[in-house]
Amino acid sequence: MIVCSCTQITDADIEKALVEILSQPNAPLPTPGIVYRHLQARMECCGCAPLAVTTIYEKIDELARKGLACPYACASARGRIEKSVENNPVQSQRLAVIRKLRGIVQGHLVMQEAMALEPERK
Ligand code: FES
Repeated sequence: MIVCSCTQITDADIEKALVEILSQPNAPLPTPGIVYRHLQARMECCGCAPLAVTTIYEKIDELARKGLACPYACASARGRIEKSVENNPVQSQRLAVIRKLRGIVQGHLVMQEAMALEPERK
């Protein structure tokens, strides 16, 4: 999935960057700026910032679950990112909207799967 249309950064790119960033001793806080810089890219319009933050959140959790990154480094990074977003009301509001939309889409997909598994009624 494309996260940033200006730089063509995908969620897979972000995941790969996070593995490398979180594996560093004294890993920096993986903000979108740090992640994009790691990918040798730079935000242009910044329209993707809320989606980039959400993707970073999700990928950090996923990496910890899969055991691909230290769970303590992941928990620390996630906590520090949440704290920085809480202090920015605009970014916090955008994040809430993106999370809500993702929840609606996921709910719709689950319903479609359930309907596909349901035997045909005659
Ligand atoms: S969409 Fe990412 S910088 Fe424009």
